[in-house]
Amino acid sequence: MEHIKTLITDHQLDKGLYTLHTESKEWLHIITSWKKELFSMIAGSKKATASPEITAEIRKIADAMTLLDKLLDKLYKDVDQHKHYLFKLFKTEKQDVENYRKNHNALLTRFMAEKDHYFALRRELHKMDEAADGHFLFINQTLQTIYDRRSVRKYNEKKINKPLLEELISAARMAPSAMNMQPWKFLVLTDKKRIKKFSSEIVEMAKPLFRLSHGIDTNETSDPIFHNAPVVIFLVAPKDDMWAALDLGMCAQNMMLAAKSLGLDTCPIGFATLIEQTPVYAELEIAESDKIFLAIAVGYGDETPKGHEHNKNNVRYL
Ligand SMILES: Cc1cc2nc3c(=O)[nH]c(=O)nc-3n(C[C@H](O)[C@H](O)[C@H](O)COP(=O)(O)O)c2cc1C
Repeated sequence: MEHIKTLITDHQLDKGLYTLHTESKEWLHIITSWKKELFSMIAGSKKATASPEITAEIRKIADAMTLLDKLLDKLYKDVDQHKHYLFKLFKTEKQDVENYRKNHNALLTRFMAEKDHYFALRRELHKMDEAADGHFLFINQTLQTIYDRRSVRKYNEKKINKPLLEELISAARMAPSAMNMQPWKFLVLTDKKRIKKFSSEIVEMAKPLFRLSHGIDTNETSDPIFHNAPVVIFLVAPKDDMWAALDLGMCAQNMMLAAKSLGLDTCPIGFATLIEQTPVYAELEIAESDKIFLAIAVGYGDETPKGHEHNKNNVRYL
């Protein structure tokens, strides 16, 4: 910090380099959140079923939003580069600081303009939503969470607080179940060493299978089963319950969406069921009449996977 302070005094910056760097980082976060919301709003506007006039208006706003999204892409790139240069500046101390300050102010002007643009379009879309009297399916928090959830296979070290885990399980319990049987049981593993051990046992037992599986490479990561997640939740139910697979699927999805809404990420782990064929299965003390249907890896994601293309040729209205 000391050399930065000297630089600031030398060049009499009204804002320190460190502040400029921090500010740029904040812009990047904000632009990312705008882009996410734009994505949801554009997706929502495609589902508009209002009168032809309102639907046409909504489409126009959505087109403007698509353009804004492109501008934001460019702005993001420029700010990111600027942030990168500022960081380099801390180290070299040779660059022309004044230029960077000018560039920073130019980017700030662009940022503020895009901000106004963004909020204006958002307000217009809200107006249309009201005019459509509920026929226009405007994106809400629940839909946003559904669109945002991805299977995440890289987690950081941050631990998950117990109240958060309890919230996930509480949300999972809210799932519908055939004849309200609520067949689920939850086995929560929070010991990373144990998770790692279970993963190794599964890998050891099923190596030939993994080599055949798309996307699983036993050499690539230290934990190809649970992806080094800090928590794994096994979903268990009676073997002979004919609806259990469906019930647990719903329960799992509730849990994953709840996690996403709380800032956590997840990955459903079908391979976890293979633990039944390993010697460590006994440690789980699962009743003879029950079995594992699925496990969910939970943690704070350290990657943002791109969305998949979703097949749209699978609906028929009769
Ligand atoms: C029943 C089920 C089992 C899955 N098993 C695994 C698994 O063992 N390992 C894994 O990395 N991903 C697993 N996945 C995640 C899928 O690969 C993922 O959901 C799919 O590629 C779609 O990506 P998305 O979840 O990001 O939309 C499983 C998903 C489901 C629904």
